[in-house]
Amino acid sequence: MTGTAPIDLGLLPRSARLDDAGRLIVGGCDVEELADVFGTPLYVYDEGELRARCGEYAEAFGADNVSYASKAFLCTAMARLVAQEGLQLEVASGGEAFVARRAGFPAARMAMHGNNKSDAELRVALTEGFGRVVVDSFDELARIERLVADGCPAPTVLLRVTPGVEAHTHEYIATGADDSKFGLTVSSGAAREAALHVVKSGAMHLAGFHCHIGSQIFALESYVLAAEVVARLAAEVRDATGHRVEELNLGGGLAVPYTADDLDAPSITEFGVALREGFAHACAAAGLDPAPRLCVEAGRSIAAPSGLTLYTVGTIKEIRSADGLGRAAGVHTYVAVDGGMGDNLRPALYSAGYEAFLPARAAEERPFVATVAGRHCEQGDLLVTDAQLPADVQLGDVLATPVTGAYGHSMASTYNQMPRPAVVFVHEGRARVVVRRETYDDLVARDARLDGVGGDRHEGD
Ligand code: LLP
Repeated sequence: MTGTAPIDLGLLPRSARLDDAGRLIVGGCDVEELADVFGTPLYVYDEGELRARCGEYAEAFGADNVSYASKAFLCTAMARLVAQEGLQLEVASGGEAFVARRAGFPAARMAMHGNNKSDAELRVALTEGFGRVVVDSFDELARIERLVADGCPAPTVLLRVTPGVEAHTHEYIATGADDSKFGLTVSSGAAREAALHVVKSGAMHLAGFHCHIGSQIFALESYVLAAEVVARLAAEVRDATGHRVEELNLGGGLAVPYTADDLDAPSITEFGVALREGFAHACAAAGLDPAPRLCVEAGRSIAAPSGLTLYTVGTIKEIRSADGLGRAAGVHTYVAVDGGMGDNLRPALYSAGYEAFLPARAAEERPFVATVAGRHCEQGDLLVTDAQLPADVQLGDVLATPVTGAYGHSMASTYNQMPRPAVVFVHEGRARVVVRRETYDDLVARDARLDGVGGDRHEGD
C-alpha cells in the first residue's frame, strides 16, 4: 500500500512540478487547465519525456538496435517522434504498418511482426522493403516462399523463437515459455529446423533470432537466460551451416513502476548495462565471436511513464449500513469518473494497479480510501481499487491516473458507444491535440446507411 502521502512525482514525467498553490504542472502546462480546455477523459503525453526515453534507449543500446513497439501507443505524431529520435519501429499488423507509413516512417527501419500475418500484410512488408520480417511459424516461411516465387522481393528475416524462459509476469503477457502461441520452440528443435530451412532457402536472408519473453518484467536475469538460449541456438546453426547470424533481438518487456511501491524498478540505463553484460557473456560462452548485434524492442518503458489520463469525478457513492446511520462495513466507496475500461482496459484485464490523485491539489495528503470506478456497464469496470485520495474529493474535480501512456489508448474501445478520448502532447508550456476526441458521428460513420424509418433491408429485397 502507498499510505496517505501525496502522489509521488516519480510516477510522473520528469518535467512534473508543483506550483506555489500545489497545482501540478507537466510539460510546462497546468494539468487541470488541460482538462478544462480539451475536456475529459483526456490522454496527456509529455513530449519531452517520450523523447528522453527514446534517447535513453539509444544511449543504452545504439539507436539502430532499438525498435519502438508501436502497439504500446501509436498515432501519426508518435510515429513521427520515433522517426525523429532515430529509433526503429516494430509493427504487429497491417494497420500499425499503415499508420506508421502514412506518417512517413521509413520502411527500411521497420519490422513486421505477428503470429498469423496475412498474405496482404506480408506483401506490404516485402514490396515496401521493411528492414525485417519476424517470422513466427513454418506456415509463414512457406507463405513468404510463395510470395517471393510470385515476384515479391526476398526479405531479411528474424526467426521468432520461444526460449522456454519464465518471465514472472501476468500469464496473459508472458510469452517466452514453450506453451505459447508465438514463435518456434527451441527445446523441441523446431527453431533450429526452421533456421536450417531459411539458410538454404533462396527466398529470404536469415539475419538472426528474435525472442520476447513477456511484458512488465522486473527480473533482468530472465533476459540473460533468454540470451543464453538464443546465443546457443545461433552457434548451433553456425556449426551446422556455416551461416553466422548478424543480430539477436531480445524483444521488449522492461517493467515500469505503476505505483509508488514499484519505484525501484530497473531504469532503461540499468536494463542496458545488465543486458549488454549478460549478452556478452552468453555470446562468449556459446563461442560466438564476434558477437552478433544485441537488439531490443521497447514499448511500455517509453510510452507508459510519459502519459497520464485525466477524468472528471461525476458521482460519489458511499454505501450505508443497513440501519442507514453510517457506512457499511466491508464495502467500497465508489468515486465514479467519466472514463473507465474503454480508455484503460488494463485493470479489468490484468488486475493492474494504478494510483489516483487530484492535479489541482497534488500536494495534498490522500487519507481517503475509495475505489475509482468507470462509467461502463460492468461491475469490473474499476480503474483503481482502494485508491488513496484527498479527503475532500468532490464532484467536478479533475482526477488523474499516472503511467497510462502505454496500452491505454492502443487498447481503447467504444464499449457502450462511449467515444474514445483525445490525445494531447504537452511540451514547454504548449499543448497540442495529436488525436482528436471521437464524436457521436464517428460512432455511426462505419454503419451501412439504411433508407428511411424502419428501413431494414434484407438480402434479395
Ligand atoms: N516486442 C514484442 C514482440 C512484443 O510482443 C511486445 C509486446 C513488445 C515488444 C513490447 O513490450 P513492452 O516493452 O511494451 O512490454 N497489453 C499488455 C501488454 C502486451 C504486450 C504485447 N507485446 C499490457 O497492457 O500490459
